[in-house]
Amino acid sequence: MSSHPASTDLPYVLAITGASGSRYGLRLLEVMLQSGCTVHLTMSPAAGEVFKTEMNRPVDLNQVTLAELFPEADWIEKSAARFQYYRHFDFSAGMASGSFRTAGMVIVPCSMGTLSSIAHGLSGNLIQRAADVHLKERRKLIVVPRETPLGTIQLRNMTTLSEAGAVVLPAMPGFYRQPESIEDLIDFVVGRILDQLGLSNELMQRWGT
Ligand SMILES: Cc1cc2nc3c(=O)[nH]c(=O)nc-3n(C[C@H](O)[C@H](O)[C@H](O)COP(=O)(O)O)c2cc1C
Repeated sequence: MSSHPASTDLPYVLAITGASGSRYGLRLLEVMLQSGCTVHLTMSPAAGEVFKTEMNRPVDLNQVTLAELFPEADWIEKSAARFQYYRHFDFSAGMASGSFRTAGMVIVPCSMGTLSSIAHGLSGNLIQRAADVHLKERRKLIVVPRETPLGTIQLRNMTTLSEAGAVVLPAMPGFYRQPESIEDLIDFVVGRILDQLGLSNELMQRWGT
């Protein structure tokens, strides 16, 4: 786990949508908060469904707390002031406006539905609107899609987002460092996201080192 301080005081936006892989989003949130980042989180209703299925416990999307996301954790008190949660249709959230400065946005995992909506500029909920804002403001937007196989429409949507300036970072862990656990696989992807954000981390053993 990284103990490096955050490189900026601006908040990062983290969105968790209803693709498989809630644990990627949770792990990213954990590492960022423990590294001193401020994180503004939002989750879609489908993300809540997937969370329940994959984590074996429900999450109350009306008021997500760190205690609910990380029931066993002893570090959450220290991070509480740097965590804010916004509901899916709360367009009054700072992240919904270009005048609200952020250090970037990550959507992990990113469903094909959200990916498509962003590619077409729908801005139909807070996640889509915040992503639209990050693109128009030329700020970092990282989407972490999870689907297989990929259809032509989905591939075209990813190309559209890449052309608009987003980083498309599929949840595709590498095996060349011989992972021993699910945690290793998750950290591979989360480490690559942190690299894209410019945040130091030692979550994965790097090739060539
Ligand atoms: C258990 C479960 C797993 C899912 N996995 C995926 C997935 O890996 N990729 C995906 O694009 N959609 C997946 N879906 C479907 C999305 O949740 C669905 O398309 C939803 O409308 C996405 O909404 P959102 O983008 O607002 O989160 C899954 C749904 C469930 C219930």
